[in-house]
Amino acid sequence: MESVRLGIVGCGAIAQWHATALKHAERTTITACVDVVPAQAETLATSTNSVACSSITEALDVGVDALAILVPHDLHEKLVTEALEAGVHVALEKPMAPTLDACERILATAARHGDRVFMLTENAQYWPEVVMAQKLVAEGAIGEIVTARSWHNFGITKEFYPSDQSWRFRQASAGGGVALDTGSHWMRPLRMILGEIDEVVAVTGRLWEKMEGESLVRSLCLFQSGVVASFDVILATGAVGLQPHFQFTGTTGEIVISALGEVRLFDGKDWQGTVVGRGNYMDSYGGVWRDFEAAILDGKPLDADARYSLGEVAAANAIVRSARSRKWEKVW
Ligand SMILES: NC(=O)c1ccc[n+]([C@@H]2O[C@H](COP(=O)([O-])OP(=O)(O)OC[C@H]3O[C@@H](n4cnc5c(N)ncnc54)[C@H](O)[C@@H]3O)[C@@H](O)[C@H]2O)c1
Repeated sequence: MESVRLGIVGCGAIAQWHATALKHAERTTITACVDVVPAQAETLATSTNSVACSSITEALDVGVDALAILVPHDLHEKLVTEALEAGVHVALEKPMAPTLDACERILATAARHGDRVFMLTENAQYWPEVVMAQKLVAEGAIGEIVTARSWHNFGITKEFYPSDQSWRFRQASAGGGVALDTGSHWMRPLRMILGEIDEVVAVTGRLWEKMEGESLVRSLCLFQSGVVASFDVILATGAVGLQPHFQFTGTTGEIVISALGEVRLFDGKDWQGTVVGRGNYMDSYGGVWRDFEAAILDGKPLDADARYSLGEVAAANAIVRSARSRKWEKVW
């Protein structure tokens, strides 16, 4: 096999972003677009020169080697199971599932089809600025990590929150609030650089009345290394300012990843620091597909195996527990 024929299942907001990124995955071609809303499937199929389908079965008839499952969280388990049992490779959007039990069931199904690649598409794993910071830290550019800060404040958009009836506003379909949903992209970089989280303490809030899950998280994460990092996610009700996405403080310096894609190293040589790299969050999506096709076509191990993503689900669930108990909560 020289290239991957990919079917997209769920032709909504993130499918558009992935379709754009897939233009840079040289060995993957979208052949089928599946959605329960025909217009959604047809729009994406037209823009990707592929075939619109109403089910996974139809996509299999069109011809797919792999399926990307890009649907609301409560449907992940059902559709990923159907895809794996059909014998194709699968890329599933985050979170794997809202509960760890459901994640384990999915991983057990994936293990039964272990000759197929099962990827959890956490794009932050391939976020260029984060990968640069990870390398700098590993090279000792700021000494030993002392603390870190992850900050994500964002406004509501029609793209991801088309109405206050959006599935993201309902606990039954989203499985949680911003900690579980978009928070994963800001939690993964902390884990990539600081390791595993042991305990969290959090305060959450509901800024959006119609949203059943939390839209505000202020939390501290105690890592197994003993380092404490802050992790904040805010789905704001108004305009937001630009704050650094991440700040890693070490014994000899600091690395700051700005909201504009700049990686700045403070090592004492210049009080303004030195820009050591620039990147773009949107490029992280291309990394997902290059890794997926290399795993399928070359047998390369994924940069992060699917089980690794359970760390973000467990941390998000612990944040919610801590906000209720008002105490530190173990992540596992
Ligand atoms: N990586 C990221 O940056 C990122 C960003 C946004 C969303 N996501 C994730 O992507 C997934 C989808 O989110 P979204 O924002 O695109 O949602 P969305 O509502 O925009 O799109 C979901 C699509 O799935 C379709 N759908 C529903 N049930 C289906 C079924 N049974 N079969 C086929 N299609 C079905 C819907 O009609 C809709 O078109 C979620 O897991 C979400 O967390 C990831």
